[in-house]
Amino acid sequence: MIHFPLRRSGFLRLGAGSALGTLIPFKTPAQTSSRMTTRPIPATGEALPVIGCGSWIGFDHAPDSGEFQRLPGVLDALFVAGGSVVDSSPMYGRAEENIGRLLAAAKRPGRAFLATKVWTHGRAAGIAQMEQSFTRLATDRIDLMQVHNLVDWRTHLATLRGWKEQKRVRYVGITHYAASAHAEVEAVLRAEKLDFVQINYSYDDRAAAQRLLPLAAERGVAVIVNMPFGGGGLLRRLRDQPLPGWAAEIGCTSWAQLLLKFVLSHPAVTCTIPGTSRAEHMADNAAAGAGPFPDAAFWRQHSLPL
Ligand SMILES: NC(=O)c1ccc[n+]([C@@H]2O[C@H](COP(=O)([O-])OP(=O)(O)OC[C@H]3O[C@@H](n4cnc5c(N)ncnc54)[C@H](OP(=O)(O)O)[C@@H]3O)[C@@H](O)[C@H]2O)c1
Repeated sequence: MIHFPLRRSGFLRLGAGSALGTLIPFKTPAQTSSRMTTRPIPATGEALPVIGCGSWIGFDHAPDSGEFQRLPGVLDALFVAGGSVVDSSPMYGRAEENIGRLLAAAKRPGRAFLATKVWTHGRAAGIAQMEQSFTRLATDRIDLMQVHNLVDWRTHLATLRGWKEQKRVRYVGITHYAASAHAEVEAVLRAEKLDFVQINYSYDDRAAAQRLLPLAAERGVAVIVNMPFGGGGLLRRLRDQPLPGWAAEIGCTSWAQLLLKFVLSHPAVTCTIPGTSRAEHMADNAAAGAGPFPDAAFWRQHSLPL
């Protein structure tokens, strides 16, 4: 039987043919109109805020650059809105090191839920890379360590099981970003006991909804959605068009919020991590983390011009 990390009653319900004016005002205990909604991590029940921050490209800047100067504001905007998840990888150049530096200077460093990855072959190289991530992130505890793009996943999951027992990492997961790899992601999800899976899912890239998202729910695995804007392409296609009138009915004031609401409308999704290097974009994105979240019927009746 499939069980969902968020109670199904946590979604805005619309009957077929419902008029927008009949949307049911709606709150879960974990949801308020202004603070970010949280969803439970199935493995522990720990509450995770639904919007995080990705760091690919956006956090890979030299510390003396103008771009770097923008980054403290990004994390602050995330934390002020009630968010906590910051996702990185040794693949992202200077991002891990910058996150470590920024958190050391941040006003609310304790809020961060640190997720990073291992992206190399071999046990010794994996251990060395993960040790380097602790140093770069300037922490002795990483909340979530993920095997990036399934690279040598058997080797790294074996190491990480031991590290989890030693409480060096709190959760273990795998990631990928392409539908072509979903069959392999599915096989690992079935074979291994994982806490998290991070995958691609967006308004125009729904392959994960066919098998992976229901399977994650069935297996009690938290889902982090990467590339909710298709790497930014969806926003570029939408930005010159007017927002539909119904956006306001679900509390959205931007295309970014509509795209994030769509992702979060799937009951198996625990969190999404839009990448940004701009505080105003982080604040915009975080606003999508307050309810309500429409159900699938709503999205069948209301489409985006993509
Ligand atoms: N295999 C993997 O493990 C994997 C693969 C891909 C991604 N990821 C993770 O997932 C994260 C998200 O994916 P992504 O960064 O590739 O793509 P994305 O989140 O779909 O899109 C990021 C792009 O959207 C722009 N953006 C963000 N918020 C915006 C807003 N409110 N208004 C206008 N533009 C906005 C960003 O530009 P600005 O900087 O100007 O805001 C950036 O160009 C990554 O950063 C990474 O942490 C993991």
